[in-house]
Amino acid sequence: MLLGVNIDHIATLRQARYTEYPNLETAARIVENAGADSITIHLREDRRHIQEIDVRNLKEIIKKPMNLEMALTDDMLIFAEEIKPEFCCFVPEKREELTTEGGLDVVSQISKIKESCKRLTDLGTRVSLFIDADEKQINAAAETLAPYIEIHTGHYADADNRKKAEKELENIKKSIRLAASLDLKVNAGHGLNYENTGNIALIPEILELNIGHSIISRAIFSGLSEAVKEMKAIIDNPKSSL
Ligand code: PXP
Repeated sequence: MLLGVNIDHIATLRQARYTEYPNLETAARIVENAGADSITIHLREDRRHIQEIDVRNLKEIIKKPMNLEMALTDDMLIFAEEIKPEFCCFVPEKREELTTEGGLDVVSQISKIKESCKRLTDLGTRVSLFIDADEKQINAAAETLAPYIEIHTGHYADADNRKKAEKELENIKKSIRLAASLDLKVNAGHGLNYENTGNIALIPEILELNIGHSIISRAIFSGLSEAVKEMKAIIDNPKSSL
């Protein structure tokens, strides 16, 4: 099973101050060197984290495949046609949401998705549809030209008790079996963290997990002590930088 690391929230931190740091290309290099199998970024309509320039710069320097998540709008499609990422994941998007809150409604827009898939597939991009673990959506996904689906694990991750988590997990497993029987390749992601990923990683049909927020959050604590020590060393032994 592969790991795609979503680095959006490195950009969230940068955009909080409009600084040059933390540098996204440096982050991508670290993530790749640590074993990530792909770099995932979501260019949101409100540009709250990733910017167009980030996508262009990352496309130049990353060695692993880029997975560009985007809403299914004309502007985004034109942008994706210019970038030609190795993977493109269509996601639903609402401006007011904190993060992607549910899967794409494939059932109501099969022909639009089909046409968009064709445009990107012709340029060599493999398309994935981010959908809920729902039989109707999976059957509809099989009618589009998308070779991949990404099962939304957010409902499982958000379950606030064991019974609900087990129910969501069973639903995910059932949906993945259906998808595999329809020859869809299956990825999964959203809300996965250091406690809940094991159960998902045990599902053999899943090809790749896309994980972001928990990894970037964990990285703060892995690096916080070192960061304080480095600043302390500067203050204890100050040198002019001018
Ligand atoms: N997969 C998709 C389609 C997403 O939209 C996101 C969030 O951008 C992720 C995976 C990663 O989710 P998280 O940040 O909760 O790990």
